[in-house]
Amino acid sequence: MLRSPALSTRMRAVDLIRKKRDSGELSREEIEFLVAGYTRGEMPDYQMAAWLMAVWIRGMSRAELAALTEVMLHSGQVLEHSDIPGKKVDKHSTGGVGDKTSLILAPIVAAGGLTVPMISGRGLGHTGGTLDKLEAIPGFNVNLSLVEFLKVLRECGMGLIGQTAEIAPADKKIYALRDATSTVENIGLICASIMSKKLAEGIDALVLDVKTGSGAFMKKEEDSVQLAEVMVETGKRMGKKVVALITDMDQPLGRMAGHSKEVWESLEVLKGRGPADLRELSLELSAWMFFLGERTKSVEEGRRLAETMIANRQAIEKFRQGIRLQGGDERVVDEPERLPQARFRAEVVPATAGYIRATNCEHFGTALAMLGGGRERKEDKIDHAVALEFHKNIGDRVEKNEKLVTIHYSSDAKLAEAKNLIATSYVIGERAPGEKRPLVRRIIGG
Ligand code: URA
Repeated sequence: MLRSPALSTRMRAVDLIRKKRDSGELSREEIEFLVAGYTRGEMPDYQMAAWLMAVWIRGMSRAELAALTEVMLHSGQVLEHSDIPGKKVDKHSTGGVGDKTSLILAPIVAAGGLTVPMISGRGLGHTGGTLDKLEAIPGFNVNLSLVEFLKVLRECGMGLIGQTAEIAPADKKIYALRDATSTVENIGLICASIMSKKLAEGIDALVLDVKTGSGAFMKKEEDSVQLAEVMVETGKRMGKKVVALITDMDQPLGRMAGHSKEVWESLEVLKGRGPADLRELSLELSAWMFFLGERTKSVEEGRRLAETMIANRQAIEKFRQGIRLQGGDERVVDEPERLPQARFRAEVVPATAGYIRATNCEHFGTALAMLGGGRERKEDKIDHAVALEFHKNIGDRVEKNEKLVTIHYSSDAKLAEAKNLIATSYVIGERAPGEKRPLVRRIIGG
């Protein structure tokens, strides 16, 4: 829990806002004073908002960033798993379209002998959220108390829940304010927000999947690399093993975007099938988790272990157990048709024949949300059955009237608008694009 800094009687928020406004460097005590005061409701929104904007404009030093992360981490409970043998590892993705690897690697890594205490988020805007995907499974409860969560972890080695009131409450409050004051897109603030929540899980190691490209939060590779570097450094400063993979989000991951269909596609990969890109990234991330969690001596050995967990069905059985323990209908594992299904289908075809040279991937996520399969505002309800099924990848040839995307939908209120957005998101040219860009662009901190 946050301490009341000894100097707090002499400190004033207005002076600290001015200090940051004038490019000064705040001490740990000063940062703690601001964060603790705001979290306890002693400082008004307008002062925290002013400080956040000053940080957004002036930036933070690495020491300030480490202090902010630590103070936010200790604003609530930090989980402790000393009664569970072995290392605790997790993965965090900065989010994209069709990114469902958490549902695949959590059971792979838990089946392989490590513990995965995963506290995840919901989707907002064009990106999907793990919690929403899990809730497509009838009965699945992502709102376990921390006591129930720890029980599930002890029993099966994996648990997937949402951020509770006890976990990094400072981040919860500050994030809501950032959302309303246009101060989200700042590398230091993003780093402190993500790392404080992840480190509160009580993990030993963390694998970061930092997306880059038209469907990512960070569109430019150099921005993704910068975010990855500060997150890796911050994690290491706090004594954790951290690696970041910079991965492609210039097009959707896998063939499906939309909650129910993403669960279905994850089950496919866990059964040894599924699209090559999704399988590849899931294996790569699992391999790093095994390696950082000291379950294997190398990443290559980690990859072989991940492949074995799929081939011998231990990973799919682990997922079945995880679903059961969190109250879900485990029959979806063998009968995925039990997942919510959309009533109608519509096809999107290209305006011209040619080669797919690029996509505006963010627009696919926006179209999905428009059809009810995502949130435009926090309080929106999600239709889990809505999905986009992608038939072509960048570099593929497509003929006029050939299917590009199948839309699975139940309400046609915004169908025409969504169809148009999807169709215009493809850049189609006469020649195939040059070299195929790799799925994993770079590894930071490995
Ligand atoms: N996700 C988070 O959890 N925090 C941010 O600041 C941005 C994305």
